[in-house]
Amino acid sequence: MKGLWDRRRLLALLALSGAALGGLASCTSKKHTEAADTTAWVKIEGATYVDNDACMTCHADQAEHFKTTRHAKMNDPRTPAAKHECQSCHGPGSVHVKNHEDDKEGLNDIIRFTEGKGFPGAQLAAQCLECHQGEKRAWQTTSHAATGMACASCHSIHSPQGDKQLKQATELETCAQCHKDVRNQMQRPSHHPVREGKIGCKDCHDPHGTGYEKNLRGANPNDTCFKCHQEKAGPYLWQHAPVFENCLTCHTPHGSNNRVLLAAKPPQLCQRCHSDSQHPGTVYDKTTLFEGSTPNAHAVHNACIDCHSQIHGSNHPGGKFFMR
Ligand code: HEC
Ligand code: HEC
Ligand code: HEC
Ligand code: HEC
Ligand code: HEC
Ligand code: HEC
Ligand code: HEC
Ligand code: HEC
Ligand code: HEC
Ligand code: HEC
Repeated sequence: MKGLWDRRRLLALLALSGAALGGLASCTSKKHTEAADTTAWVKIEGATYVDNDACMTCHADQAEHFKTTRHAKMNDPRTPAAKHECQSCHGPGSVHVKNHEDDKEGLNDIIRFTEGKGFPGAQLAAQCLECHQGEKRAWQTTSHAATGMACASCHSIHSPQGDKQLKQATELETCAQCHKDVRNQMQRPSHHPVREGKIGCKDCHDPHGTGYEKNLRGANPNDTCFKCHQEKAGPYLWQHAPVFENCLTCHTPHGSNNRVLLAAKPPQLCQRCHSDSQHPGTVYDKTTLFEGSTPNAHAVHNACIDCHSQIHGSNHPGGKFFMR
């Protein structure tokens, strides 16, 4: 695990210096236009900012809780000197206030973060992303963005149940609102310790996007696994080809009814590929499983693994068959 932390620190440093350089580049190139450019923010027809106290009079509940959150202390990049608080997210409120004073309704008179109500998800996300540049970087590459989801599917500003403004008490429950199948896989006997709180979905996926497939933290499944299982990266003197290609040929990431997250039980797992050589080509069914009354050694206990125990690779001079 030591290697992991070193690598993480290095990545963090790289990311930081990258961000600093990126920031610098955009500063110089956009110097003259950026300050007044608010195109990414949702426009509410005819609306201007009003004093936040106006919001407080009709929405005392939200206002009371809001004071205790980190967002109450934020600066609005549009007008750094003034604190718009509620309106930083909900947009300029004059039309909404006027509507309610006149007893009128108007769906687009204020930004509502309930999906399907008023503005589309992409615009709702943009409203948050203007301040959250870190999350902005790869958000557009996610299928979360592509399916019209916005930040409020996972985060709640006014009634969060978990850390980081999460909508549910834990990350697992937040994701399980939609990914029930993954939560179910995590219930299987062999699983990554997500339920136990040792690692999170976020250690393998960044829900805000990474630019890699499935929002993985690594460029491919193997790179993701190596962040924690670095010893499996070798290099080995004798490399087992499928290990080098994709860990998921033999393992499932979320959970399995077989031991050690195996995608199938040996010998069947091995026989997916090794089925037509002499040894160990036997298909172990009821006619071949027994030699007299003794079970065939190739098919019981851990089957092939009992002999080929260095299955990921071997550095032993005689390790061609992954036995030592
Ligand atoms: C005169 C009273 C009044 C004032 C002032 C007022 N609101 Fe409202 N607001 C309402 C009422 C009533 C509703 C519910 C009806 C509706 O959805 O339009 C509402 C609805 C909302 C909603 C939508 C809730 C949802 O998800 O459907 C938001 C967001 C909101 N107000 C924010 C604000 C903000 C921000 C301000 C200050 C700029 C503000 N309001 C000022 C009365 C008011
Ligand atoms: C005007 C700028 C601004 C806008 C708009 C904004 N935020 Fe934030 N947000 C901040 C600041 C500042 C912090 C506090 C950062 C800190 O303390 O390190 C923060 C913190 C957070 C955090 C982390 C909270 C924690 O406990 O660590 C989350 C999650 C978050 N915002 C989500 C959102 C979402 C979702 C939206 C849109 C509905 C949004 N933000 C809109 C400025 C903004
Ligand atoms: C699919 C669920 C999901 C969506 C959608 C989502 N987030 Fe998050 N967000 C999370 C989780 C989970 C964490 C906590 C990660 C952690 O603990 O490091 C988080 C953390 C954050 C943080 C705190 C980061 C930190 O390092 O402390 C910010 C800020 C944030 N999200 C902003 C946003 C914004 C802005 C959007 C919309 C564009 C958004 N999130 C959409 C799940 C989501
Ligand atoms: C950081 C962004 C942000 C800020 C600032 C903010 N809100 Fe909200 N507001 C949201 C989001 C997101 C929702 C969707 C419900 C939720 O999950 O919190 C929402 C929902 C609402 C609703 C609908 C009712 C509800 O609770 O779901 C009202 C009313 C409202 N906000 C009023 C306010 C008022 C008044 C303020 C200032 C005191 C304020 N908001 C500040 C993001 C924000
Ligand atoms: C509001 C529903 C919803 C929530 C909550 C949600 N997701 Fe998703 N997620 C989706 C949808 C819709 C897709 C795209 C369709 C699919 O692949 O199932 C998706 C796809 C994904 C994918 C595949 C990415 C890809 O590009 O193919 C990953 C990984 C993922 N989600 C992780 C998470 C994690 C981690 C969380 C919690 C932090 C989370 N999701 C919370 C709805 C959700
Ligand atoms: C140990 C790393 C790891 C953890 C922890 C993890 N995942 Fe995954 N997840 C993966 C990998 C690797 C894939 C890619 C699978 C593939 O390409 O077939 C994946 C795929 C997915 C997909 C795409 C659909 C699918 O099944 O292929 C979703 C959705 C998803 N994960 C959600 C989650 C959620 C939600 C959590 C937390 C409860 C989570 N993952 C925890 C590694 C992980
Ligand atoms: C964020 C760190 C992390 C990442 C990334 C990760 N793992 Fe793990 N893995 C763990 C931890 C922690 C355990 C549990 C170790 C223990 O309990 O001793 C584990 C256990 C395992 C086990 C043994 C399970 C058992 O039942 O004993 C396998 C197999 C495994 N991981 C494969 C993978 C694969 C394949 C990937 C890439 C898709 C991966 N891991 C990515 C942290 C990680
Ligand atoms: C050819 C199939 C196969 C491939 C591919 C494979 N594994 Fe395994 N893995 C196994 C088998 C079989 C076991 C059980 C070994 C045992 O019981 O001694 C195992 C056990 C593990 C374990 C738990 C025991 C240990 O040795 O630490 C981890 C962690 C693991 N594999 C990670 C990975 C990673 C990471 C990859 C990709 C680099 C990978 N595996 C690729 C077959 C495979
Ligand atoms: C996805 C296909 C695949 C799976 C599954 C697989 N292997 Fe392999 N295995 C290969 C390939 C490809 C080679 C390299 C063959 C070569 O070089 O001739 C190999 C080589 C080997 C070798 C060395 C053979 C030699 O002649 O050098 C042994 C031993 C072996 N595998 C055992 C196993 C065992 C035991 C399992 C089950 C845990 C397993 N394999 C699962 C594809 C697979
Ligand atoms: C009792 C120990 C033992 C068991 C159990 C065993 N093997 Fe082997 N295997 C060996 C030995 C010893 C060799 C080397 C044979 C040689 O030197 O020619 C070997 C060689 C191999 C080879 C490379 C030679 C070839 O025939 O292609 C493969 C592939 C292989 N085993 C796969 C498997 C698979 C798959 C299983 C499970 C179905 C398995 N073995 C079970 C001992 C075993």
